[in-house]
Amino acid sequence: MDRILVTGAFGQIGTELVPALQKKYGKDAVIAHGHKNIPPDADVEVVTFDIREEGKLEETIQKYNVKTIYHMVSLLSAVGERDPSVTWDINMNGLKFVLDLAVKHSIKVFWPSSIAAFGPTTPRERTPQHTVMAPTTMYGVTKVAGELLGQYYHKKYNLDIRSIRYPGLISWKAEPGGGTTDYAVAVFYEGLKTGHYTCFVRPDTTLPMMYMDDAIRGTMALMEADPSRLTIRTSYNFAALSFTAEELAEELKKHIPLNVDYKPDHRQQIADSWPMSIDDSVARQDWDWKHQIDLSAMTKTMLIELRKKFGMKS
Ligand code: SER
Repeated sequence: MDRILVTGAFGQIGTELVPALQKKYGKDAVIAHGHKNIPPDADVEVVTFDIREEGKLEETIQKYNVKTIYHMVSLLSAVGERDPSVTWDINMNGLKFVLDLAVKHSIKVFWPSSIAAFGPTTPRERTPQHTVMAPTTMYGVTKVAGELLGQYYHKKYNLDIRSIRYPGLISWKAEPGGGTTDYAVAVFYEGLKTGHYTCFVRPDTTLPMMYMDDAIRGTMALMEADPSRLTIRTSYNFAALSFTAEELAEELKKHIPLNVDYKPDHRQQIADSWPMSIDDSVARQDWDWKHQIDLSAMTKTMLIELRKKFGMKS
């Protein structure tokens, strides 16, 4: 049986991607790779190793007859600044191992890029698909380099690699860790638990965001898309919502008592270097991408699901 390997399967995206893939392709079709913090109740075949152990990755590919990899392992933007060398090592060398083994074993690859691939010299409003890409974080540097490496492998070795530049993702199942867009999730958690949130960016900070269900649906749609329609093998711009930190807080205040104060820290500079909104018309044209969930629907769903998760009355 051909199998799908999800690396970084217990991170923010992997936690929701794995069950969605199992639902679509069958429970036994999915293998989940993790390194740390594997939930003891994970309902999936799990493999555990550091992604930089290339031998273990190849063993897994051969043992399970892996024909598709969603390579989600990554250190995010804020945490990536603590040790840029380790960030390069995990994000780039991990990706290169995956790409080399994918060529060797004829594997189709999904790899996530990000709005972090852009930088302060990029036009910030309706950022186009093809534009200046000069990021100022190590995370962003690894995203641009990874995009180019993927495209190179596609052209040189005919590797079927597909990629999306994710905006900030908002979800209730697993919290993000170490990203700059984390405030848009943390405000829900802290707001519900304590009625108070200290936000680490200014109230007027505007970043592109998306509810996780849309992100998962879009990711799987890109992987199913007819390859002859795909014109981008670096990474697709991918958008849904754009709002300020304050607009998000106001939306929550329609449902819960909430007091937000703003104490910008080092992450403000990262946020200010990223786009405020994204032009994703190429994705819409090439594989019919269309988001479904707006700010109001997302806020309501997040609150319902988090209340259940925390055992609170609705
Ligand atoms: N959400 C990510 C971060 O903030 C961006 O890809 O680092």
